[in-house]
Amino acid sequence: MSGTQANSEAPATRTPNPWEAAYLRFETPEEEIRKFTGRLNRLGAHQWPRDVEIVELFCGRGNGLVALERLGFTRLEGVDLSPRLLAQYKGPAKCMVADCRKLPFLDRTKDVLVVQGGLHHLPNLPADLEQTFSEMQRVLRKTGLVIFVEPWRTPFLTFVHFVCEIPWVRRLSRKMDALATMTEHEIRTYTQWLGQPELIRKVARAHFLPVHESFSRGKWNFVGTAR
Ligand SMILES: C[S@@+](CC[C@H](N)C(=O)[O-])C[C@H]1O[C@@H](n2cnc3c(N)ncnc32)[C@H](O)[C@@H]1O
Repeated sequence: MSGTQANSEAPATRTPNPWEAAYLRFETPEEEIRKFTGRLNRLGAHQWPRDVEIVELFCGRGNGLVALERLGFTRLEGVDLSPRLLAQYKGPAKCMVADCRKLPFLDRTKDVLVVQGGLHHLPNLPADLEQTFSEMQRVLRKTGLVIFVEPWRTPFLTFVHFVCEIPWVRRLSRKMDALATMTEHEIRTYTQWLGQPELIRKVARAHFLPVHESFSRGKWNFVGTAR
């Protein structure tokens, strides 16, 4: 990992908690990188200049940053609250342990802010969402873009949750068991997130002008510009 505080951690803090352990086994790094690469291109990354300044917020173990690097982007940074997950990233992006509700960047300094599966971890809605979006608005250049990809209660997601709760499915599928375990450990914030779709869209639109919004395979995909 480059530029993080995680390298100097005590060994005890490197042990993942149960949610992190399930997240790490949900997909292999290559599966995750392939997913992120396809997704970023579908959301327009193929059109962005390769030298734009991109920050992946809630970046976890950094596979979104690896995908961006493989797409040719050269000015990359990552932010996550977990030093244990950030410590798994071994690339050129500068990564920081920080809370996305208070971003460690100057005003109007970033071109693209990407969030993939982080907002639904915020403990208090809508206050934390307001705060995170205000911070993103503050650091985004006037010509900048935000990208959000977050879980959304579509029929597909309801079906996936039904299936991954079946005991024999969990025994047979590493992925389904990991998903069920993650859901158990984030149930409060996850349920809070899935239960307020209109409020979330309203808060997003209050901060960013949507240029693309879609709902597919249990995800909300939002691309917006600064207001
Ligand atoms: C589902 S993971 C997503 C990680 C990565 N974006 C991905 O898709 O693999 C959510 C991440 O959000 C981080 N996180 C939760 N609350 C945070 C906060 N307030 N600020 C920064 N990171 C946070 C967690 O540490 C975790 O790595």
